[in-house]
Amino acid sequence: MKALLLAGGMGTRLRPLTEGLPKPMALVGNRPWLEHVLLHLKQEGIRDFVMAVHHSQDVIRHYFGDGSRWGVSIQYAVEQTRLGTAGAIKNAEPLLGDRFLVLNADIILRSPIVPLLDYHEQSGALVTIGLTEVDHPSHYGVVEQDERGRIIRFVEKPSLHEAPSRRINAGLYVMEKKALASIPAQQEVSIERETFPQLIESHGGVFGFLLGGYWLDMGTTDRYRKLHRDLLDRKIALTLKEKERGQGIWVGEHTDVGSGVLFVPPVLIGDRVRIGDRSVIGPYTVIGDDCEIGAQVRCSESILWDRCKVHREAQLNHCIFGSGLELGAGHLLHEAVMNVLPGGVAQ
Ligand code: GDD
Ligand code: MG
Repeated sequence: MKALLLAGGMGTRLRPLTEGLPKPMALVGNRPWLEHVLLHLKQEGIRDFVMAVHHSQDVIRHYFGDGSRWGVSIQYAVEQTRLGTAGAIKNAEPLLGDRFLVLNADIILRSPIVPLLDYHEQSGALVTIGLTEVDHPSHYGVVEQDERGRIIRFVEKPSLHEAPSRRINAGLYVMEKKALASIPAQQEVSIERETFPQLIESHGGVFGFLLGGYWLDMGTTDRYRKLHRDLLDRKIALTLKEKERGQGIWVGEHTDVGSGVLFVPPVLIGDRVRIGDRSVIGPYTVIGDDCEIGAQVRCSESILWDRCKVHREAQLNHCIFGSGLELGAGHLLHEAVMNVLPGGVAQ
């Protein structure tokens, strides 16, 4: 079975981190989120992937290529204009089989896939939507089900009092190719606002299956921070390339730690990082590959992407830095989310 990964969104709510970068390429624990998604689905037995991307998303193709580095096969369905979630699936139709998985590429999910596929098979559904339960459903697609699990209402981002339940679309679907029949080709169509409500209205066989395990949509900086906290607390078992060298201290390869450096766990330090003498790193801190941290730097509750430079005696607390950001000596930053524009100017 193939999995179609919807990766063509704009990531507006994660800006400035995703400025010039597709949201699923945001680094999570020192590797692009999309790579974690791929590794998880591979563990679940999926080997064939299609990535639905916008033509401006060369960075995804460049990074993943044909997938052979991960022992999987990847094809690309490229959109010339923005087609929305259903339009993107329709655009990928020629690359898909009679039954396939669709996944929003920005969700963090650790649930087994087989029970969802079994449920889909047994219910004879045209579409099975993976569901999860959240406290604030109005940020999501909210469903109402009958006692057999059939979805009788799907409301995308309802206001609080309109939400029919706390059960939401987790962004994972099993679909039959037939479900795409009514979607017009090469037009912008939303699966959440148009296709699902239409299929439900015409009694088209849309079912919902409650997924277990960890689930999070990482689409805002608050949730992105929460994801890293959960990762460092090992509430979510993502595969890290770094090795745990002490309790809650993960360090990559060829990393050079100066004398008197104190790691306050949990911390995750990437490959080829240099940390100057007497710096204090952590807790809840991620330092990306090839970062250079000067002497006597204090860095806590912060996430630095790769190639950042923090000069001596700077202090960071609760910050997120995009790739290649540089912070001058002695600077003090609290709660900053910063990135470098493609032209090289800090934002
Ligand atoms: N290829 C392609 N083309 N992908 C797209 C497009 C498009 O035009 N528009 C959005 N996507 C991708 C995004 O990259 C993301 O992976 C996914 O589709 C969902 O888009 P978001 O923009 O992240 O939507 P959302 O988070 O507000 O809501 C969606 O996800 C929730 C779960 O996290 C909806 O599906 C909700 O119903 C759902 O509850
Ligand atoms: Mg999202």
